Amino acid sequence: MTEVLQIEKQAGVGHIIIDSPPVNALGYAVRKGLDDGMDALLADDTVKAIIIRCDGRTFFAGADISEFGKPVRKPDLHGVLAKIEFSAKPVIAALHGTALGGGMELALHCHYRVAADTAAMGLPEVHLGLLPGAAGTQRLPRIVGARKALDMMALGAPVRADEALSLGLVDEVIATDDLVASAQRFAETVIAKAAPLPDIRTRQDKVEADRADPEIFSAFRARHARRFKGFKAPENIIKAVEAAISLPYAQGVEREAELFVELLESKESEAQRHVFFAERATSKIPGLDKSVQPMPVATTGVLGAGTMGRGITLALSAAGYPVTIVDSNAEALDRTMGIIRKTCEGAVAKGRMSPEKAEAQIARITPATDAKAFADCDLVIEAVFEDMDLKTSIFSTLDTIVKPGALLASNTSFLDLDKIAAATKRPQDVIGLHFFSPANIMPLLEIVRGDKTSDAALVTALGLAKRLRKTPVVSGVCDGFIANRAMAPRMAEADRLILEGISPADIDRVCLNYGFPMGPFQMIDLVGLDVIGRNANEKTVRSELVRMGRLGQKQKGGYYDYPAASAPTPSPEAAAVIAEIAAEAGLSQADLDDDGLLMRLLSPVVNEGARILEEGMALRASDIDIALIKGYNWPIYKGGPMLWADQVGLGRIIDTLNAMAADRGPAFTPSPLLVRLQAEGGRLSEQ
Ligand code: 3HC
Ligand code: NAI
Repeated sequence: MTEVLQIEKQAGVGHIIIDSPPVNALGYAVRKGLDDGMDALLADDTVKAIIIRCDGRTFFAGADISEFGKPVRKPDLHGVLAKIEFSAKPVIAALHGTALGGGMELALHCHYRVAADTAAMGLPEVHLGLLPGAAGTQRLPRIVGARKALDMMALGAPVRADEALSLGLVDEVIATDDLVASAQRFAETVIAKAAPLPDIRTRQDKVEADRADPEIFSAFRARHARRFKGFKAPENIIKAVEAAISLPYAQGVEREAELFVELLESKESEAQRHVFFAERATSKIPGLDKSVQPMPVATTGVLGAGTMGRGITLALSAAGYPVTIVDSNAEALDRTMGIIRKTCEGAVAKGRMSPEKAEAQIARITPATDAKAFADCDLVIEAVFEDMDLKTSIFSTLDTIVKPGALLASNTSFLDLDKIAAATKRPQDVIGLHFFSPANIMPLLEIVRGDKTSDAALVTALGLAKRLRKTPVVSGVCDGFIANRAMAPRMAEADRLILEGISPADIDRVCLNYGFPMGPFQMIDLVGLDVIGRNANEKTVRSELVRMGRLGQKQKGGYYDYPAASAPTPSPEAAAVIAEIAAEAGLSQADLDDDGLLMRLLSPVVNEGARILEEGMALRASDIDIALIKGYNWPIYKGGPMLWADQVGLGRIIDTLNAMAADRGPAFTPSPLLVRLQAEGGRLSEQ
């Protein structure tokens, strides 16, 4: 037997048991184990039926994603599945955990399926920019019909065992503890009945009914057009299901293979697979000893009841933490408590939360106007105005109030965490917890590790991120940390381009077409020009607009006008301001197509990312990608700026930067890391 394979036999039933941690992905060793197991049991005359099951936490979680793009070692998945399907002996899949992707497809090649009541099954390939490529797109519609198959494959959500039973995806649902014994009984019954083996490929009832209703596909496309924008996989999945209902099975499978290969070779899928592994890498900290224990966090405090304090309080209380929220301004505190209540009530109205849960969440929050209320908190997160003197004075006060052994965190966006920590006598217990607005919704949590931050503090922050269901990205101390620092050059370039005669609307359009949900000027108008303007002393387009009271959507419009009840329109007033400042600046006017514009906007982001890496501020390039995907909605199907740079070619990025540097100086000089990687043919995203 191979390392991953065990075979057991009982009363004429042979069990193939695969154990390949962590998730029994169908890589080479597992395929070989299955193939060998099938050969052994098919050749064994005492065996009349075969059960395939897994040890460990789950049934097969799908193909081994790390093998994609590499040469396939035989036996391939199709070969193994054919051996199962064409077995003269009945094969029964016994599912527990999550049967996903190729794992569910394997189950659909078995003649019967039994599932633990806690199991789930699904075809989530769409999240990797792929489609189910082991006949899943042809089998699923034959069992559940095209509508449900589209939902399951193009939206990628799994179904639980009870739903799988009602859909006909499994034949029996069994108490989890009893899975093996019940599967055995099920197999013995199958042997006793000796009925012809069920064959999904010849089932026609569902596909014939769907053939009579061609609207299914156009309606599905229309319903999800926004969600699918920019992604390649959903459309190929729809086409594969169209093939399932219009073509004979064998031709449908061929069509599926074409559509699968197209996706496998696509930039979008490369990006989504990069993101899959990148997301899981962010909490792996090189050099961090596994034995380091987190500091206990049972009670929390938030200082500052403004925009961020409110969002952080919502996030903490939603995750079950009791929160003491303190603001010296009683009015601000009242306002925030009112908004928190409204937010929870809104969630109830939308059916996202029960009224009881909402009340319990609100009851976990205690407002106070004196920081002494933090005395017993295990974690205090400061979110007052972005002002170094204020923050240092607050941290030295917190140091005297909050019990020893508690974690003190700052939500600062740009300030030097080491200086803040130095205001206390416990800099080892000070860390940055940089949330993104709205903090209760945005999935990124930047964890800023100061010079003196202890490993225990870091581990505590990583645990907090997990409990808040946020993705942590660890950053060193630098101006703007990772996400804000890497994104700042796009804004700076957008500001420059409008002085070179490109309209805000054109810049926003190019960013939208790239896949950002909003362009930089739309974003400023939404957030407020007064909030974003950091160089308030200089005369800039932004400062002029602020001076005129054009603060964005909230007041008089900003870069755009907002006529009541209609979409934003280009603003003649803003255009006049831009023209005036541009005339004073006297810059030559740009002559750029959309692609040239995009390169100008994003190449400096890549360069800043490379510098962040060179300075050791990020642990790895993919952390920068995740920070911008989760913090700035960088489109997932572009994989973040580091992967995108590899895809467009480092040479093009460097050429763009060199041209900018020739014109505007060394701030744009390509980083040595970029230059070295290009010379060596290396990949930025793999640093
Ligand atoms: N291939 C390779 N590695 C995988 C994997 C897969 N299919 N699924 C998970 N892993 C790895 C993860 O990278 C992680 O590795 P690490 O410990 O080194 O970081 C480890 O397994 C554990 O994964 P998670 O941290 O995600 O563990 P969870 O318990 O939170 O989740 C899971 C388990 C629900 C199975 C989740 O890992 C998951 O959703 N996996 C992907 C499932 C999937 O997309 N399957 C389809 C694959 S494509 C396919 O099958 C094509 C076919 O149609 C031909
Ligand atoms: P805000 O202005 O909305 O709120 C700040 C709150 O702090 C006010 O309610 C104020 O009354 C209170 N406050 C000020 N001094 C205080 C004191 N001494 N004691 C108690 N309360 C005091 O500010 P916002 O936007 O919430 O920002 C807070 C922090 O979060 C800043 O450091 C900011 O850089 C950072 N941040 C802001 C983001 C944003 O998008 N607004 C995003 C990420 C971080």
